[in-house]
Amino acid sequence: MEPFVFRNPTKLIFGQGQTNELANEMKVHGAKVLLIYGGGSIKRNGLYDRVITQLQEANKQVFELAGVEPNPRLTTVQKGIEICKKEEIDFILAVGGGSVIDATKAISAGAKYDGDIWDIIIKENEAKDALPFGTILTLAATGSEMNSGSVITNWETQQKVGWGSPFVFPTFSILDPVNTVSVPEDQTIYGIVDMMSHVLEAYFHHTRNTPLQDRICESILLTVVEAAPKLLQNLEDLDLRETILYCGTMALNGITQMGLRGDWGSHNIEHAISAVYDIPHAGGLAIIFPHWLKISIDERLERHVQLATRVFGVNPEGKTDKEIALEGIEKLSAFWTSLGAPNRLADYDIDSSNIKKMAAIAGERGAFGNFKSLETKDVEKLLNAAL
Ligand code: NZQ
Ligand code: ZN
Repeated sequence: MEPFVFRNPTKLIFGQGQTNELANEMKVHGAKVLLIYGGGSIKRNGLYDRVITQLQEANKQVFELAGVEPNPRLTTVQKGIEICKKEEIDFILAVGGGSVIDATKAISAGAKYDGDIWDIIIKENEAKDALPFGTILTLAATGSEMNSGSVITNWETQQKVGWGSPFVFPTFSILDPVNTVSVPEDQTIYGIVDMMSHVLEAYFHHTRNTPLQDRICESILLTVVEAAPKLLQNLEDLDLRETILYCGTMALNGITQMGLRGDWGSHNIEHAISAVYDIPHAGGLAIIFPHWLKISIDERLERHVQLATRVFGVNPEGKTDKEIALEGIEKLSAFWTSLGAPNRLADYDIDSSNIKKMAAIAGERGAFGNFKSLETKDVEKLLNAAL
């Protein structure tokens, strides 16, 4: 493995009933709180009322930014920054899924920045500070609750850009499986695909000697493969919600990637698709990832074989390494399809008309992918294969 430094300062408050810790946790933070949430799911499932009660108990003056959209938009982020500056907000509380948390990260950095936050997102400038924020996660998927990454869409320029800063780790994150019970079936499936994709991005790298990292990744994948079909049979099972919630966080809080650099090309391609079509992030991943695995098969065949045999139970007897690897990819793809995930661009009514455009967006900063280097022309081929 490569030498590494690991730091993750987020206080994780995990488990059934932990939502009740909010008032206590808020006591040490300033009086003016901006509460940020999405399109209303927290009002429908009662979480909003519980949050407000606890913020009042902690003597906070509460301001609100509602309506953060899935694939959160720059314009919403700018609105939030304006509130923070005008009202001199001390602390932000994000209550929602990855989109609400990602928007909050950009708002917290923008609140302490004099220019346009977009400069920081596209890396023309660096965040030097940020308002502190906490989160209550309501959807197991992105890992944003315990990492320093964020993805923001500029709809005007059709750019969906990932950025990060050590200043935007959440101060605390409350993960109570009870708050994820109302997640509908489709979003539950997307979350499962997203967390598995994060592990797969980490798994494919060129670093030697990573036996523990490999097994951490495989454990997460095996746990998800075991729990996900059962959860989809009973969306209200709290133990299964808890397992999946824990997997989602562990999949992208830095633990799987100590001492190595994962690929992340599939995420880049997906961001290009949802910049043009505004489809769910993991819907795009479910379509792309099997194709990416196929085109990267010769990069380090032994890793594909290891994944196929250790996670997807492929019997290697009498088969070439390539056959084993391909069978593993088929099994992954069949698993996602069996859950109800899409597997072709046509499932979102996407035809060939914008493929060149999406490929150009994916490749606009040059070749990408730490495991399998891809250029615009490769993306075009991949997307055509995924039609
Ligand atoms: O907006 P509301 O009404 O809350 O509804 C949301 C939204 O419609 C709903 N939902 C969330 N919790 C719910 C619920 N509905 C019922 N009950 C609940 N408890 O689910 C819908 C999707 O929410 P969203 O936050 O968009 O989903 P997700 O958590 O999958 O986040 C996706 C975003 O995260 C980015 C993606 O690109 C996408 O923009 N990513 C962020 C990453 C990171 N920061 O590390 C990494 C990921 O790879 C990803 O790129
Ligand atoms: Zn993702």
